[in-house]
Amino acid sequence: MVTRDVNEAPRFAARTRGVLTCGSAGWAVSDRAATMVAAGADVIQLTVGDVDVATPAHILAAARRSLDAGRTHYAPIAGEPALREAIAAHAARRYGTRVTTAQVVVFPGAQCALFSTLQCLAGPGDEVILLEPIYATYEAVVGATGATSVPVSLRADDGFTLQLELVEAAITARTRVLLLNTPNNPSGLVLGAGDVAALAALCARRGVWLVSDEVYGELTFGAPHVSPASSTLIAERLVVVNSLSKSHAMTGWRIGWAIGPADLAAHLTAFAQAQLFGSPPFVQDAAVAALTGPQDICESLRASYRQRRDALLEGLRSCRPLRTFRPDGGMFVLVDVSATGLDGGAFADRLLAGAAVAVVPGAAFGASVADCVRLGLTVPVPRLQQACERLGAWLRGR
Ligand SMILES: Cc1ncc(COP(=O)(O)O)c(C=O)c1O
Repeated sequence: MVTRDVNEAPRFAARTRGVLTCGSAGWAVSDRAATMVAAGADVIQLTVGDVDVATPAHILAAARRSLDAGRTHYAPIAGEPALREAIAAHAARRYGTRVTTAQVVVFPGAQCALFSTLQCLAGPGDEVILLEPIYATYEAVVGATGATSVPVSLRADDGFTLQLELVEAAITARTRVLLLNTPNNPSGLVLGAGDVAALAALCARRGVWLVSDEVYGELTFGAPHVSPASSTLIAERLVVVNSLSKSHAMTGWRIGWAIGPADLAAHLTAFAQAQLFGSPPFVQDAAVAALTGPQDICESLRASYRQRRDALLEGLRSCRPLRTFRPDGGMFVLVDVSATGLDGGAFADRLLAGAAVAVVPGAAFGASVADCVRLGLTVPVPRLQQACERLGAWLRGR
């Protein structure tokens, strides 16, 4: 019989190592800023990607009605039929394709939908291609499956535009998934129809699943977002992940979804059963109101982020020697700080200490943007202007 030394240190599963990196580089500055704010400091927080406007009144009212009607019990695992229908109709409208409710599984946020999707598609020995810069949690989402992340770094000098030949060269016999995020967090790049179609065709040709994270799909400042779901080439191996967090000012409600082939949806439902046992019915009723009611919130957020982007870029013009990347969507601006002689981490640390402005070090979004920091468009224009004034004065005084 094998005996275990009861005094030995507790052991954890190998997958815990795969998620260790999750945001650690990025959130230390944010945590420190929060501590400073709690102690009364006037810190301008440009870290967390949370929208600063209230959830629209008609969505709140729907949730209240639902609570009053006693909708506080278990819900169907894959989601309430009315919400799955609303999501399928919303997707069919956006993509111009047929989407059935059998393809839709509701999750508490796009994050959970992504996590579950990757659990269903990749495992040890597999490779998942990530187009860098990446959203800070992607490495951990892949790491938790036991698969290996294969970053394809898009060049800052080209504005992080897609280089298809780099993606193609990264595909091996082990590649299972390509994870796409357009509009991109943190670069703000919005891929055009040609690039999206080319990626979809590449994935179809090479038998790779394409997972499309579209949480910023409503937040574009010029050309609209194009989803690979509009391309019929890939329908068999395409998963779209989305949520109401960013588009409808509902980050705290935790409501999102995955749409994929019906057989994948069955696996996703099994995962949802094992880990969630359904999402709260009153939140789902509010989500139906969000998807089927007035959509003014999307337009007003779009306009607001666009105005903030322009104000921030204008303010940063006098912050030499910083180099900015102009986002066409999303809610962030990426700034290259290498000409200061500091990397993104040291820059963010010193900026917080010296000017009380909190930004996220680029390393959180991949090694290739370690010389950058990310600024959120999450505060009103006057506060962004104040952040630029502090930043400029701090740079001049160094
Ligand atoms: C690119 C990207 N995907 C997914 C998420 C998670 O969104 P949700 O709140 O729907 O879980 C975020 C949140 O910031 C994000 O930036």
